[in-house]
Amino acid sequence: MIRIQVLSSKGGVGKSVLSALLSLASARRGKKVILLDADPLGWSSYVLGHRGPGLIPSLLKEGRVVADTLSFSKPINDSRGSVLAVKLFGEGVRYEEDLKSVLFSEELSKAFKRALSLVYRGTADVIIADSPTMADFNSLVIKEELSVASEIFPDLVTRNLYVTDPTTLSAMNLRTFMDHVEKMRKGLMGTVINMVAPLPSAMEEAESLASTFQGVVAVIPFIERLYNTELVSPNDIPHQITELEEFIYRPTPSFALIF
Ligand SMILES: Nc1ncnc2c1ncn2[C@@H]1O[C@H](COP(=O)(O)OP(=O)(O)OP(=O)(O)O)[C@@H](O)[C@H]1O
Ligand SMILES: [Mg+2]
Repeated sequence: MIRIQVLSSKGGVGKSVLSALLSLASARRGKKVILLDADPLGWSSYVLGHRGPGLIPSLLKEGRVVADTLSFSKPINDSRGSVLAVKLFGEGVRYEEDLKSVLFSEELSKAFKRALSLVYRGTADVIIADSPTMADFNSLVIKEELSVASEIFPDLVTRNLYVTDPTTLSAMNLRTFMDHVEKMRKGLMGTVINMVAPLPSAMEEAESLASTFQGVVAVIPFIERLYNTELVSPNDIPHQITELEEFIYRPTPSFALIF
């Protein structure tokens, strides 16, 4: 089992939308994908059409697992693949507080782990995990969920995919963050440089920035229809994501520049 952890040092750079698109791209190739949505707003599952509550707030509110939170599945036309979206949060900045309340209650934390185990025990080829900004392998949400995944899949391979916008400052901060995370849990897959202005000069600059990163690097322009979109479908997958997706299943380290 492969697990791609989508990470960033800056908010709003596209982690959630890219996680959703990468999941769709994989499902379109016939893979069974679990999208683990740990975005505070539940955005990656929202753009796939999930409108139910998050697992954590609903556990707190109802004291039990609400079926909706676990059963949102998006089948893909003409493909055997599918995306099963697991939405953890959805209530914004309260996410950390809610997570702690669940984990510090013996009963609720058991229910949380049981619910995740239930999903993970189903058939899947890959887990694509969207994270809150700045989350690393020490953050509570990743640590707890990863421990459930590792118990169920002793052969779990975790690989890290970083996302940044193309500004020099963001790239510099990302590099510091990457060094920190890779020291913690080595497993670089690559980097996405997202939302590059679709102008020749900006694309050229992004290309030279891309060549300074290791692993697979994909450069994705600002795409009007992806901006503030509330729903993505396989038709929205940029070709760069289609190409990037194939690297999920290749041995590490792989090197490529995707434009
Ligand atoms: N390549 C792109 N072109 C245009 N808009 C994009 C692109 N990538 C992402 N977006 C848009 O940018 C906004 C932020 O994206 P997203 O929510 O995925 O970022 P994030 O890193 O997950 O943010 P957060 O820090 O809130 O979790 C969204 O409205 C999304 O639709
Ligand atoms: Mg997000």
